[in-house]
Amino acid sequence: MSPASVFITGAAAGIGRQTALAFARRGYIVGAYDVDETGVQALAEEIVGSGGRAISGRLDVRDADAFAEAIKQFAVEAGGLTILINNAGVLIGGSFVEHTAADYQRMVDINVSGVINGCLAAYDELRATPGATVINLCSASAIYGQAELAVYSATKFAVRGLTEAIELEWAPQGIRVRAIWPLFVRTAMTRDLATGTVSTLGIRLTADDVVEQILAACTPSTSDRLLHRVHYAVGRQAHLAAAGARFSPAWLTRAVNKRLARH
Ligand SMILES: NC(=O)c1ccc[n+]([C@@H]2O[C@H](COP(=O)([O-])OP(=O)(O)OC[C@H]3O[C@@H](n4cnc5c(N)ncnc54)[C@H](O)[C@@H]3O)[C@@H](O)[C@H]2O)c1
Repeated sequence: MSPASVFITGAAAGIGRQTALAFARRGYIVGAYDVDETGVQALAEEIVGSGGRAISGRLDVRDADAFAEAIKQFAVEAGGLTILINNAGVLIGGSFVEHTAADYQRMVDINVSGVINGCLAAYDELRATPGATVINLCSASAIYGQAELAVYSATKFAVRGLTEAIELEWAPQGIRVRAIWPLFVRTAMTRDLATGTVSTLGIRLTADDVVEQILAACTPSTSDRLLHRVHYAVGRQAHLAAAGARFSPAWLTRAVNKRLARH
């Protein structure tokens, strides 16, 4: 039997990079893919240098054909595909009218179409692997629409809906589909982010905090299995926000989000 394998998009930096290193340490064959080819090559060399196994390549997640080809080649080399992590994403912040339709289209193409492309590309390989899992990087901004992150937030609502729907469709075939919900994480994505919510809540999470939940989602506890847990919030603030939105009346959730965003 081949060792377990994981295919990660957006693996050159931030959460994707830390996730790749964590899976490599656990003996997985790591597929590290990104538009930053030099970045994933360096990562693969680091993994191989520490005794792990890695395959890397350039992949723009917006290109459905290239995604399908990358998955196919990876599965041949790795002897199958155990986990797909749709991590690649971009963020544009600021007031909604500050940016162009083209800027927003690019974000939708990467954050939403990229995840759709990944799920379609990996389906046949995942279906053939017992215990296969898809992890989609969602966000706490999919709990309530975020001022100054309107379109980013909307893309993550799309990832949430997609994850929930595909989870239902694929559960009978033994493919687990899970969403990870971090609040703000200290990576390049948030380096210059100056929204009201960032000022109120700060940026408290590290990429390793997110990795911890990704690993938990890939090796679910008995209760997570029994309760069909689909969503994994990261950090106390995201847990509180998710619970608050679930149990509060709509007017209160709006008022809290208005206040957090300083609007
Ligand atoms: N940083 C946060 O605060 C935060 C919070 C919640 C969710 N997330 C999500 O986590 C994921 C990773 O974020 P991060 O903070 O590590 O970001 P990051 O900017 O540090 O890394 C993103 C990586 O994605 C790659 N990428 C961008 N466009 C791509 C494309 N078209 N095809 C392939 N790769 C592409 C980049 O080259 C980069 O290596 C994203 O989906 C993001 O939305 C991040």
